[in-house]
Amino acid sequence: MIRPANLSDLDALVQLETRNFDSDHLSRRSFHYLLTRGNAILLVDEEHKQLRGYALLRFHARSPRARLYSLAIDHKHRSRGIGRALLAAAEDAARGRGAASVQLELRKDNHAAARLYEKMGYREFGTYLDYYADHMDALRMEKPLTTRLHATDQVAHAVHRAS
Ligand SMILES: CC(C)(COP(=O)(O)OP(=O)(O)OC[C@H]1O[C@@H](n2cnc3c(N)ncnc32)[C@H](O)[C@@H]1OP(=O)(O)O)[C@@H](O)C(=O)NCCC(=O)NCCS
Repeated sequence: MIRPANLSDLDALVQLETRNFDSDHLSRRSFHYLLTRGNAILLVDEEHKQLRGYALLRFHARSPRARLYSLAIDHKHRSRGIGRALLAAAEDAARGRGAASVQLELRKDNHAAARLYEKMGYREFGTYLDYYADHMDALRMEKPLTTRLHATDQVAHAVHRAS
């Protein structure tokens, strides 16, 4: 089940973070800030009271873009579609806040994440050199967020296109 995170998830979030990233971890303090005062949306996937992953979006007051700040699925729950589902839920949440697109950065050597983002419609548009603590470059990707059409709108749209 995907749901918004709350302060009772802090311990599990920190554990998940340290288990799944070798460097550039988000600290407990950062998660606390993001959950309380940050202009952010933090979604978690939970099953049987265990957090299997999270997606974190940040917003800036004068920007129409949401930033996917982090996405992580616990090792033992990978390759089951949870990353894809969390990313789709994060995009819906960004749409709900009126964002026009989602931008993100990822390590140049993170092929699994690059594949996921490509499949979900993200396109590369730039590079940040020497971006991470170990000097790895970051790829920048973006996806425009078009409004999701409801079923009835889709029929009307198809009829309009066909006529
Ligand atoms: C990247 C990550 C979020 C993917 O999560 P996941 O739940 O395993 O991914 P999914 O099962 O939803 O896979 C969706 C698609 O991603 C791609 N993908 C996922 N893992 C992959 C891998 N190891 N190698 C290649 N492609 C992969 C595939 O295209 C897959 O689609 P398919 O199943 O139709 O082939 C996960 O590996 C992770 O948490 N990694 C560590 C943290 C990280 O790198 N986060 C991203 C920071 S930018």
